[in-house]
Amino acid sequence: MSIAPAVKSFDWQVLSSVDYNTGHATTQAIDSSVSIAEAVAHKEIVAENSTRLSPEEISFFKHNGYLIKRRVIDDDQLFCRVIDYLWNNVPRNILQRDDPHTWLDSPHKRWTASDHEMVGLLHSGNWKMRSADRIGKESFLVDGIARHPTMLQLAEQLLGGPLKSVNRVRGVYAVLPKPQHLVGALGPHCDYAAGQLGAMVVADEMPTGAGGFTVWPGSHTRLHECWDTCYGSSITGEGVDAYRRCRDEILSDTVPVETFGHPGDVIFWHHRLLHSAGINRTADSSCPLVRIIVPCGYQRGDKSFFDDEEYGPSEKYQWWIDTRNYREDVAPTGSNLWAEWAI
Ligand SMILES: [Fe+2]
Repeated sequence: MSIAPAVKSFDWQVLSSVDYNTGHATTQAIDSSVSIAEAVAHKEIVAENSTRLSPEEISFFKHNGYLIKRRVIDDDQLFCRVIDYLWNNVPRNILQRDDPHTWLDSPHKRWTASDHEMVGLLHSGNWKMRSADRIGKESFLVDGIARHPTMLQLAEQLLGGPLKSVNRVRGVYAVLPKPQHLVGALGPHCDYAAGQLGAMVVADEMPTGAGGFTVWPGSHTRLHECWDTCYGSSITGEGVDAYRRCRDEILSDTVPVETFGHPGDVIFWHHRLLHSAGINRTADSSCPLVRIIVPCGYQRGDKSFFDDEEYGPSEKYQWWIDTRNYREDVAPTGSNLWAEWAI
């Protein structure tokens, strides 16, 4: 079977690997025979309130590996501040807030290595605004979003307590509209970081088709046993081929789901879920917009946490991830997917 980099067929792909160590098993190329289905919009399930999860929501999360909770953070001023912060960090006005032409005119070609270091990489239209010692550690992001009482309450309902302390968010992630003349493609991947529960906090209007976080429902269950441990960052030995085969099977038989929402909505997701940034198609509309989210992560506390010096997370690699490997972590089995969870 031939293995070819999927990116060759497309002009515009939501790549994830450029800022990472490409030697990890999760970055193996997708088989050229795999055709990835177009994403469909998430179908809403009814939720009674924003501060607790109902049995139906928990069941949905366990089955699908993700859950959208609406209006978790009800603070318009906070999200205005997040959006202003993004635009204020653009180097040399390469992107202008009120001029969508600047978003579509290959801005990544003017993004320098120094810009990358200061404010994160812009790759195609995907700007992960973050930095090692500044962006992602601000109080309005950490206290205002990641440590917001309702965020902690919902995370604790899923994970049980105590939670590991939350010290940063990954950053503020933007997806620019795809220029109309380019062909788009998703970039399905698993994060190869230690973790347990991810949360994508919607920071600006994110209608369907605007590049919302996109997931392959149920993939967390199927990929669980490919990893060396339940919550760690490594895949070695037979897991390497198993991961590639399983991922390609999922891509062949599962229709991805694109999320949408309003500021303050949160997409919670299991850390082994296959996912991608969505393709922002709003350049095809009369109202192009930039998709903006704040990703953060949670895990159970009271463990012997350590830094992975080869792949991270650590001060050196994947420093934008707040969760960590821990020594008590065990090998995955067919029955321990939800060990260390409260659900
Ligand atoms: Fe990711």
